[in-house]
Amino acid sequence: MTRETAIPPQTIKYVAKPLVFASALIPLAWVAWTAISSGLGPAGPLGANPIEYINRFLGDWAIRFLLLALAVTPVRGITGWTPLMRFRRMIGLFAFFYACMHVSSYIVLDQFFDWTEIWKDIVKRNYITVGMVNFVLLASLAATSTKGMIKRLGAKRWTKLHKLIYVAGIAACLHFYMMRKGVQLEPIIYAGICAVLLGYRMAAAWRKKARGPQPAQ
Ligand code: HEM
Repeated sequence: MTRETAIPPQTIKYVAKPLVFASALIPLAWVAWTAISSGLGPAGPLGANPIEYINRFLGDWAIRFLLLALAVTPVRGITGWTPLMRFRRMIGLFAFFYACMHVSSYIVLDQFFDWTEIWKDIVKRNYITVGMVNFVLLASLAATSTKGMIKRLGAKRWTKLHKLIYVAGIAACLHFYMMRKGVQLEPIIYAGICAVLLGYRMAAAWRKKARGPQPAQ
């Protein structure tokens, strides 16, 4: 049983979506405001290394939105609350948006547009290579997220392509784990959440396969 009728579509479009959109911008607004008002000084609220703080903060929000996007389908499956699906694309795009901010902070604040150094980093440091691959994956998913692209690619090919979000989730966790030296709890928690979300989908796919083709209703 679904609860599609619980929220009228107009309320989702004109109230819930703008609210989710505005809430998703709060972390960026907070870090931008704190950075500007404290002048990026080492004794400010962003700690002794504010540039590292900003870069990591934006990376954290990119992976959080990515895992949130991956959580939409399982939560819908468990609760039967279908209106949730209307937020999946927006949440996924926010993952890409925060990834763009994270990468921009690395290029602008950390490397000062030194493209030779950036290229050296991508080739030499494995966690940056993984981050780069992940960024390209997210960019291709964002670029093909429109209704027009679904039509152009065809639903079947589009669905296949968008399975890359699972690879992006794993790559984000790997990037996080590799970046932190040694075994640390935080990246392990994110990887655990990702494993549960992907495990749920695998179990659902196996159950569907075991049931066999369903008669048309
Ligand atoms: C071109 C792509 C990318 C580059 C160059 C990059 C670079 C970096 C750098 C330099 C750090 C911090 C290293 C340090 O402070 O020592 C970092 C950390 C991180 N990045 Fe990325 N990254 C990229 C893509 C991504 C993507 C796509 C995601 C997520 C979807 C992501 C999530 C994170 C996370 C979660 C952290 C750790 C934050 C923390 O320690 O709390 N990164 N990345």
